[in-house]
Amino acid sequence: MKLAVVGGGSTYTPELVDGFARLRDTLPVEELVLVDPAPDRLELVGGLARRILARQGHPGRITTTGDLDAAVEGADAVLLQLRVGGQAARNEDETWPLECGCVGQETTGAGGLAKALRTVPVVLDIAERVRRANPDAWIIDFTNPVGIVTRALLQAGHKAAGLCNVAIGFQRKFAALLGVAATDVHLDHVGLNHLTWETGVRLGGPGGEDVLPKLLAEHGDALAGDLRLPRGVLDRLGVVPSYYLRYFYAHDEVVRELGTKPSRAAEVAAMEKELLEMYGDPALDEKPALLAKRGGAYYSEAAVDLAAALLGGGGSPHQVVNTYNRGTLPFLPDDAVVEVQAAVGRDGAAPLPVAPVDPLFAGLIANVTAYEDLALEAALRGGRERVFRALLAHPLIGQYALADGLTDRLIAHNREHLAWA
Ligand code: G6P
Ligand code: MN
Repeated sequence: MKLAVVGGGSTYTPELVDGFARLRDTLPVEELVLVDPAPDRLELVGGLARRILARQGHPGRITTTGDLDAAVEGADAVLLQLRVGGQAARNEDETWPLECGCVGQETTGAGGLAKALRTVPVVLDIAERVRRANPDAWIIDFTNPVGIVTRALLQAGHKAAGLCNVAIGFQRKFAALLGVAATDVHLDHVGLNHLTWETGVRLGGPGGEDVLPKLLAEHGDALAGDLRLPRGVLDRLGVVPSYYLRYFYAHDEVVRELGTKPSRAAEVAAMEKELLEMYGDPALDEKPALLAKRGGAYYSEAAVDLAAALLGGGGSPHQVVNTYNRGTLPFLPDDAVVEVQAAVGRDGAAPLPVAPVDPLFAGLIANVTAYEDLALEAALRGGRERVFRALLAHPLIGQYALADGLTDRLIAHNREHLAWA
């Protein structure tokens, strides 16, 4: 089996390779190609990746290249983990919305739209080249904003699924609190990427006993503390929201906080510098502890599980993925991309039925779906007015003057990445 990782020079790659090394019975990778336009990063990351495999006695081969077409030739699956413009562009996304009193975040709000506009054309070009090289290859997208990027891929007819680590993070967290194996915890997970709620926590599988009320009663303080929301809010919702919901439920508080500290991009850039220095040490042959300070915990396990299922070798039968709605949430169009539990196999992901969604969550899901639809229009077709329409539709924006101010800033800060601007 051959896998290609686009954006393979990312400092996250050792996390992924560590998963491939540990889980080789689930996913027997023979060749892993790391593709990246930055040769210096590739060399450092590729070197460590080889040492990680060697340490664990993994027989697989790791190659590195800047040539995408060569890399995807013969690949069974292609993982997308690129970041157009790097942390510098992310830093902008996290900064200029604050000037308008709006949250500055890489996937939520105006910053997330900027990322979508930069990213969708690049990802579609890559996907086209993957299809030309091997029409049977699966594309697994981690590239944010995952919901919009996955919809772009599916709409263009690609064999693709979108992946995020929020669900697997909750699964592991809840399993630890309950004292059971992670594989025994099945989440009722509903919403859109980075806009999800855990509405049930079932033991053993989709039909199992729902222990969410017990979890909230016994561990509500710890869960609320992690999410940085008041315990009372969780009790009133009766579900566990993802930490991205804090940008909605505590928007103004977050804006005030963000105004007083360095951006996450600046923190990550500093960490990346340190990580790359570590990766250059020939004695290092495992992922360093510092990597755990990044947000990508359990990414590798989610990726192995999904690739194993899509390529037919194994993996969990039910996994949380981003895929077409097709009636799962009846209040959304069929071609909206939702993040839900799905039965995953060689034919792709088929969402499991979802219980009726409380209007408290359904309203926001529908609103953000409309925003994502307009965001994709803007990413595909460009133009100031399309950017404005997406921003005006976003529930955290909504006013014309605000949307106009954000539109001007988005375009000014992203001109070099937007063909039409
Ligand atoms: C989580 C999210 C990802 C996001 C990451 C950011 O893993 O699910 O979508 O990219 O956090 O982590 P970072 O360390 O870059 O802030
Ligand atoms: Mn994510």
